[in-house]
Amino acid sequence: MLPKEVLDWCKTYTGPKFHALISDPPYGYHYNQKSWDNEIALQTETWASIHHHLLPGAFAVAYAAPRLYHRLAIAVEDAGFAIHPFLLNWHQMQSMPRATKAAEGHYYGRQVLRNSIEPILLFQKPTKTPKPTFFSTGAGTLNIQAAQINNQWPTNVVVQHAESCNLFGCEPACLVPNNPVTESLLQTNWEAEIWERTDEQPALTTIPKASRFERDVLLEDLPDTECKRVNDGGLSHDPRFAPIQVKNFHPTVKPIALAVWLGKLLLPPDQFQSRLLNPFAGSGTEHIGAWLGGWEEVYSIESDPGYAELAAIRISRWQALAEKHGKEAVCAALSGRNLKSLLSEQTQQMLF
Ligand SMILES: C[S@@+](CC[C@H](N)C(=O)[O-])C[C@H]1O[C@@H](n2cnc3c(N)ncnc32)[C@H](O)[C@@H]1O
Repeated sequence: MLPKEVLDWCKTYTGPKFHALISDPPYGYHYNQKSWDNEIALQTETWASIHHHLLPGAFAVAYAAPRLYHRLAIAVEDAGFAIHPFLLNWHQMQSMPRATKAAEGHYYGRQVLRNSIEPILLFQKPTKTPKPTFFSTGAGTLNIQAAQINNQWPTNVVVQHAESCNLFGCEPACLVPNNPVTESLLQTNWEAEIWERTDEQPALTTIPKASRFERDVLLEDLPDTECKRVNDGGLSHDPRFAPIQVKNFHPTVKPIALAVWLGKLLLPPDQFQSRLLNPFAGSGTEHIGAWLGGWEEVYSIESDPGYAELAAIRISRWQALAEKHGKEAVCAALSGRNLKSLLSEQTQQMLF
């Protein structure tokens, strides 16, 4: 975990090149007035600097903003990468429409369709000799075997349940009815029931947004930080959106399970010492997930010293957890089966 600015790191790094890249860069929205959520990832120079440090053929995934993914794609393409002809789409049902009540019981609006798609851009550093490159360096393919879902080939769609689905049924708008609801949605342990229903699972990766529990877990000894949940003005006066006390104070934490799956998809064959680049690391989610998914060396770069320190703590604690229980058990727990029971009091005492 390197507490550095990405462009500075690119200028000074002289080590071996990377097999792949996974990144959740700033979207350029200035989210919650954060100065770090700037346009750096929408600039060609950024990706050109990163391009230099990847092996020919290296695959890359980057989370993108629904409103600005096209700017990210242009910056990446102009920097010399090939854009793959499909996006990975993470479908979820948690966003709310921002509409105006124009008459009793009737809403209108402009940008009001609920956003149910979080795009993930898939791109590659080109190579003129894909096969020899792959056999000599291990870079240049997607590991569709490791990323299989329920013994079926992975699709480019990741889904999640609607918010009010529970163990006993899904709401009508659910994207994955009959697919088991995860613990992080239910906040309870229902391990026994899930196994009765797993046969019905389609070949879709079902991953919810990171729950507050997942974000804060293993950080219980850290001080509380107040976290705003909405921008100033508008909803900030609504008590339902009042600030909360948190341990992981990064505002845009992604789910570790999704990073595990993306990490597996990018993983080179076993005979190569796998080396992954993770610029814009935040609180370390992609680092943790990729390491759990099988990557040996992960280089994460984060310019904010507070986030970098938080990420280093999170990474070391998830690694300690995996060393105790095994990576497989932690990954299974993360996909929603028994994270809470894995983290029994005894486990936590041993970690701290
Ligand atoms: C969207 S967040 C990543 C959040 C991460 N997925 C997580 O789960 O915690 C992007 C991160 O990029 C960092 N960042 C922004 N500009 C940067 C730069 N020039 N160099 C390094 N990091 C930067 C921000 O501080 C922020 O933490």
